[in-house]
Amino acid sequence: MKINGNFDNLVPNYLFADIAKRTNAYIAANPDKKVIKLGIGDVTLPLAPIVVDALKKGADELGVKETFKGYPDYEGYAFVREAVSSYYASFGVTVDRDEILINDGAKSDTANIGDIFGADNTVLVTDPVYPVYVDSNIMAGRKIVIAPSTEENGFCAMPDDSVKADIIYLCSPNNPTGAAYSADQLKTWVDYALKNDAIILYDAAYEAFITDDSPRSIFCIEGARQCAIEFCSLSKTAGFTGTRCGYTVIPKELQRDGHNIYQLWYRREATKFNGVSYPVQCAAAAVFSDEGQRQIKENLSYYQENARIIASALDELGIYYTGGKNSPYIWLKCPNGMGSWEFFDYLLENAQVVGTPGEGFGDCGKGYFRLTSFGDRDNTIEAVARIKKLLAR
Ligand code: MLT
Repeated sequence: MKINGNFDNLVPNYLFADIAKRTNAYIAANPDKKVIKLGIGDVTLPLAPIVVDALKKGADELGVKETFKGYPDYEGYAFVREAVSSYYASFGVTVDRDEILINDGAKSDTANIGDIFGADNTVLVTDPVYPVYVDSNIMAGRKIVIAPSTEENGFCAMPDDSVKADIIYLCSPNNPTGAAYSADQLKTWVDYALKNDAIILYDAAYEAFITDDSPRSIFCIEGARQCAIEFCSLSKTAGFTGTRCGYTVIPKELQRDGHNIYQLWYRREATKFNGVSYPVQCAAAAVFSDEGQRQIKENLSYYQENARIIASALDELGIYYTGGKNSPYIWLKCPNGMGSWEFFDYLLENAQVVGTPGEGFGDCGKGYFRLTSFGDRDNTIEAVARIKKLLAR
């Protein structure tokens, strides 16, 4: 037998697994040191009370014959899709509940969506990039081209008309840089996709962090229904990193190569995915209730304040950064010309603070570093104090 040889083309470790391994090795060698983790974007606040109540109620229903449920609908229960549709309406976007499929988080679907596309398509990613888009397409043997996000373009890579791509991954607000596209910039991408008969895979996992008039959805943009699929997640919005739930939106009119894209994805899901558990879907629906929105906004504000604390320390140190405003991520330039991994080691060894080396997100991330605002408040304050002490020398 032969294994999928494309795996030989991957970098040896998934970025966050690599960081966890290095961090754990440091902790094992230095058991007396308190390490503060601002690396992977994992939340630290508990689920909102309304979400926990909905989870419990959903579980209780499963214990009663009359309300017991077996396999969920492949596309998710109608009550959750209805709730997501109303959420879109709250910021002026019309998405029918039958265009929404409930998923177990944006990571799986942004990777798995490749199942419906041929291996000979060219994939465009902006660089630096969330590694999942790249790795999943390397596994499928697709050619990948990059659009560089740099200080010069404000980390908002734009299309190059001389490059032909079939599948385009965009993430806004961006992981890792925190930059958010404007409506005009997204319109340029939509026009490029339409011109090239391409599909935009739009990751909106961080839309809840937008505080200005940046679009919350690709479907705010005219023409996007003809060329885009949107992925969203409750991981960062409502603390579901462990609970697992999100949604994918595919406009019913989206067609390519004589096929309806929703139908293809539904076919794929029915074959390979048995859906998200009933209690978790109840919890997800609770997020979109008025009280749910009020409660999760308290948590979002907490993380936004953490971002402000980190950003103001960088301001004091005179270190260049982006993000932190429409995003939980702060993307900074490594001080004193250090490389990303060099700065990772320097910070871990001298301040016991873990971040994410920008280089792990692609070549354009070289010399940059990402800190997250998802930490506990006291730990964030302590990490910032240590960083200031170390770098103010
Ligand atoms: C990150 O830190 O980039 C994210 O937490 C990774 C993810 O969402 O899978």
